[in-house]
Amino acid sequence: MDTAAFAAALDGMFDGPLADGVPRDARFAAVAAEVPGFTTPAELAVLNLAARMLPAGEAYLEVGTFKGRSLCGTLLDAPDRSYLAVENFQEFGMVAGSSRAELARHLDRYVAGHRLVLHDADCFRLLARPDPVPEPVGVYFYDRRHPGWTELRDIRAPRDHDSRWANGMLLLAYRRPPGAAHRMTGDVRWRRAVQVHLRAPATALVWRSLHRLPWLVPLAKRLVPKRSRTVPAGVGADGSTAGVDLVGDER
Ligand SMILES: C[S@@+](CC[C@H](N)C(=O)[O-])C[C@H]1O[C@@H](n2cnc3c(N)ncnc32)[C@H](O)[C@@H]1O
Repeated sequence: MDTAAFAAALDGMFDGPLADGVPRDARFAAVAAEVPGFTTPAELAVLNLAARMLPAGEAYLEVGTFKGRSLCGTLLDAPDRSYLAVENFQEFGMVAGSSRAELARHLDRYVAGHRLVLHDADCFRLLARPDPVPEPVGVYFYDRRHPGWTELRDIRAPRDHDSRWANGMLLLAYRRPPGAAHRMTGDVRWRRAVQVHLRAPATALVWRSLHRLPWLVPLAKRLVPKRSRTVPAGVGADGSTAGVDLVGDER
C-alpha cells in the first residue's frame, strides 16, 4: 500500500475542505442512510479510497462490522482483492440472531461478487492465529488507537458524535521493521490474555444483561467511562482523539 499516495489523494474525494466532510460521491450518504451503523459518509469515502488503492497481493481487514455499513461503503467499485471482516456479535446490542440476518441482507445487496470472508469471532482470538489473513494486510480498519504507529493524517471532529466525522478519524501507517519477528511481543501477549480471558467474557455478560434488562442501561451509561468517545473541543485542538484508525502496512 502506498500510504503517501493515499494520504495525498484524500482531499480530492471531498467537495470543499476536508473538515467539512462532504464527499463528492453521493453514494456514501445513501449507504449511511440505508445501512444502520456508526461510520459517517465522510469516513466511508476515506475507507473506500483506501480499498480502491489497495495493490494486488494485499488484503483489507476490518474489525467490527456491526450491520455492515462500513463494508458496504468500502466496497463500492472496489477492486478484486481479499477482504476480511471480523465481528463477534456480542456488543452494541448485537445479541440477537436477527443482527446476523440483517448484516447478511446488507452484504448481499452491496457486497455481492467480492472476495469477502466474514469471521463470526473474537478478533483477539482469531487474529492471533497465522491462517485467517491470506495475504499481508494493506488496509486495516479498527475503532481504536495504535500507539507508536506513524500518523498520516488526523482528521479532528469538532465535537463527539459529529455528523461529519463522528469522533474523528486517524490515518496511521505501520511497516514491520526489516528482519523483525512476526511473534507477539511479551506485553502484547499478556494484554491479549487479559482481553481474551477476562475482559471479553465480562463484556459479553454486561451486553447480554443490558439486552435482557434494558432498565439497567441508564445506570450503565453513568458507570462506564466514555473516554474513548471523547474528542478535544474545536477542530485542530491539541490532544488525542480516539477515532477510527486506518492503517497501511507496507511490507
Ligand atoms: C462501532 S461498531 C462498528 C461499526 C461499523 N464498522 C459501522 O460502520 O457501523 C463496533 C463493532 O465491533 C464489534 N466488536 C467489539 N469487540 C469485538 C471483538 N473483540 N471481536 C470482534 N468484533 C468486536 C461490536 O460487536 C460492534 O459491532
